[in-house]
Amino acid sequence: MKRSFSIISVLLFAVISTVNSCPPSDRAALLAFKAALHEPYLGIFKSWTGTDCCHNWYGISCDTESKRVADINLRGESKDLFERAGRSGYMTGYISSEICKLTRLSSITIADWKGITGQIPKCIASLPFLRILDLIGNKITGEIPTDIGKLQRLTVLNVADNQISGRIPASLTNLSNLMHLDLRNNKISGPIPKTFGRLRMLSRALLSGNSISGPIPASVCQIYRLADLDLSLNKIYGTIPPCLGKMAVLTTLNLDCNKITGGLPSTLLKSAVGNLNLSRNALQGKIPDVFGPRSYFMVLDLSHNFFKGPVPKTLSLASYVGHLDLSFNHLCGRIPGGAPFDHLEASSFMYNDCLCGKPLRAC
Ligand SMILES: *[C@@H]1O[C@H](CO)[C@@H](O)[C@H](O)[C@H]1NC(C)=O
Ligand SMILES: *[C@@H]1O[C@H](CO)[C@@H](O)[C@H](O)[C@H]1NC(C)=O
Repeated sequence: MKRSFSIISVLLFAVISTVNSCPPSDRAALLAFKAALHEPYLGIFKSWTGTDCCHNWYGISCDTESKRVADINLRGESKDLFERAGRSGYMTGYISSEICKLTRLSSITIADWKGITGQIPKCIASLPFLRILDLIGNKITGEIPTDIGKLQRLTVLNVADNQISGRIPASLTNLSNLMHLDLRNNKISGPIPKTFGRLRMLSRALLSGNSISGPIPASVCQIYRLADLDLSLNKIYGTIPPCLGKMAVLTTLNLDCNKITGGLPSTLLKSAVGNLNLSRNALQGKIPDVFGPRSYFMVLDLSHNFFKGPVPKTLSLASYVGHLDLSFNHLCGRIPGGAPFDHLEASSFMYNDCLCGKPLRAC
């Protein structure tokens, strides 16, 4: 009796210890990942000791069923680090391809460490369970892995504020679950893939601050959930697809600082878009006189283009215009009166050909 009890307790202990401990291969992969990084100020990796990487290893969590490492969550700007050390994080080194041995990873967040260099390991595209890849705010170079499109579960791809170059890979538009794409402030060049509209789940597409060229693919208009499209500060040319003004939930459209030509589609002024920045392009023609009670603009910035003709009279019918900028165009004529104009300053209208009336000089 006593003997069987001790056998049971040995068995029980073995069960409990395997419940708690991560597989030695996952532990080894994490230690190899850590070895390629250097974090001098906060000592976050000091907690990475012992055999059980699923327990009290800073930034690591495991899947409750498979007991495999599921999340790497290391944020240099996180509040708890700041509270503990009174400073934000800084880390150098690179992301080792050993990370790909953690084949159960569901999220990788290695964000805002400012000093991490090297490339995104190509093998990351082979992690079958990856849902979140967030590497914002480092100094990562090289290209987005060519076969990124293999990550069929990916919902967030954020590599903003790095030094990533090369093109947007064609396979990216195969990410049928992608909801949030943030490539801002990198050195990405080449066009937006024509098939961009295949990203049916996408709600935010932030590509600002790169060297992206070519036209805006009309397929973008097929993305029913797209709420925020930011293509500003690139080298995009061609015209604005009028179908952008027919999108159900598009509320922010930033195309400022590009080389866009042609006219301003009237659809855009009657759409759900409430933040519209088209500043610093080469748009021409008249501003369509199609505003109405459904027009509601937090921001309407059309400055630094080649618009001519009058300030549209119907703009006074808009239910709200927060920030209007029509400066640096070739507009001419009397500025209409009415509620949306009451609070606007002269700077909204300056540097045109011959505008007059409040808030500029009398006609
Ligand atoms: C997209 O996925 C399909 C089906 O899995 C595949 O045949 C195709 O090669 C992929 N396209 C790219 C550009 O990777
Ligand atoms: C619109 O874009 C221009 C150019 O990038 C920028 O300077 C301006 O501040 C933006 N307007 C608003 C209201 O944010």
